Amino acid sequence: MSSNAPHRVFVTRNIPDAGLEIVQANCDAEIWTEPLPPPREVLLEKIAGCDGVLSLLTERVDAEFFDAAGDQLSVVSNYAVGFNNIDIAEATRRGIRVGHTPGVLTDATADMAFTLLISTARRIVEAADYVRGGDWRTWEPRGHIGLDLCGKTIGIVGMGRIGFAMAKRCHGGWGMSVLYHDQYTNEAAETQLGARQVDLDTLLSESDFVSVHVDLNDSTTGMFNNAAFQKMKSTAIFINSARGPLHVSSDLHDALRDGEIFAAGLDVTDPEPPPADDPLLSLANCLVVPHIASATVASRNGMAEIAANNLLAGLAGDPLPCWVNPDVGQDNESAQG
Ligand code: DGY
Repeated sequence: MSSNAPHRVFVTRNIPDAGLEIVQANCDAEIWTEPLPPPREVLLEKIAGCDGVLSLLTERVDAEFFDAAGDQLSVVSNYAVGFNNIDIAEATRRGIRVGHTPGVLTDATADMAFTLLISTARRIVEAADYVRGGDWRTWEPRGHIGLDLCGKTIGIVGMGRIGFAMAKRCHGGWGMSVLYHDQYTNEAAETQLGARQVDLDTLLSESDFVSVHVDLNDSTTGMFNNAAFQKMKSTAIFINSARGPLHVSSDLHDALRDGEIFAAGLDVTDPEPPPADDPLLSLANCLVVPHIASATVASRNGMAEIAANNLLAGLAGDPLPCWVNPDVGQDNESAQG
């Protein structure tokens, strides 16, 4: 291929036009348009010889992936803020730039976390099913009683952008006190929301509701396990809009079944999707939605644009607008060999 020929890229799913059109206008792009992700062996074939890949969180991007693509691969642009599907150390070692899409989905994700909280507190899905099932016969003084939100304590695990946005909704709208657990102090949360930084055990035992917003990595995988649920109040609600493997599904199931906690609202599961006979799905006090926190027009268009611009920047050897491993740029020549 001559140096003026457009870069070859593979886009692993049909992302919104806001990003797709940028990619198609500037690259020799192949788009995977099937509703399901490409099977692994097909993916590895499709990326062979590509200069860039625009990936989703459903693709495992690891040494095998990089080997299959070839040495010319310069950038992987993930259409997500999270990048736990990518072996960043391996990408960096090979001089491959990695991009992600922070910021544009913060409010949408916090809205979803709050939706799950209020829906589980007020038992909305159970109540709606009751009506659909034809069981509503009269106004019931003791029926469908849920929990109040006003004046309670929200515990935020991971006070980054999304954790802060969730805390802001809980504090500003519902007058909740805010506890948070994070390795970093968040000055804005402390001054604007009166948030108090505490150790995880204190957060679990003192919070009325616990919402998790940390990255998935080796130290956070399974952090919400049996021991954690036992420390929570029996009236607590657990919300996970981050990544499924942050909680241990079987432990969460037991805690919900045995009344150790009141309810759970999950935008994410482990695995995704859960099998139809997953015991969690049989519980009335567990509300599960299919990883849709960022599924708003503005968020998904914004993600698509950022992902496209990250891809183009990486192909040009420029700094990525939203760059996960900027250390690649510092020693790019030697890393790429
Ligand atoms: C992300 O971006 O990491 C979400 O999980 C999907 O939008």
